[in-house]
Amino acid sequence: MEINKFERYWLIAVGLTLGAFIAATIVAVTVFGIRLPSPVERVNPQRLDQTIFASPGVRKIADNRYEAVIVAKSWAFNAGPEAGSPPVLRFPRRSQVTFYVTSQDVMHGFQIEGHTINLELVPGQVARATVNFNRPGEYNIICNHYCGAGHHVMYGTIIVE
Ligand code: CUA
Repeated sequence: MEINKFERYWLIAVGLTLGAFIAATIVAVTVFGIRLPSPVERVNPQRLDQTIFASPGVRKIADNRYEAVIVAKSWAFNAGPEAGSPPVLRFPRRSQVTFYVTSQDVMHGFQIEGHTINLELVPGQVARATVNFNRPGEYNIICNHYCGAGHHVMYGTIIVE
């Protein structure tokens, strides 16, 4: 069977590209340890009172290290009574905060403006992410997953001092 010269070039190009993708996947898994995100923990959204989400809020765990437990529910983020509603969370500059967030009802989003955190809040799953706050300023927490009539009023604020 005769293969046209250009067709052969294209086949070689496709083969090399596929080989590069497979090699990149193998290197990502073996060298960099990259894995698909998986839920940190599962919770019963009707029984959050028996989990860490029973008392949302911010806890200091070490110098410049904090833990923030937040519950999303149509259409607000609950970060404890001290934070208010919509919540305002204050952290000193150069603090590292680990967020534990879950949803009590439908799917919500949890994104912090200007930082690399964008969580999908699936009822029954705990989402966790650690963020470094190095630049002073005011950053919005945004629900970026359409969740119904009050989606646009579902937000909070982080103030880095
Ligand atoms: Cu919650 Cu959109």
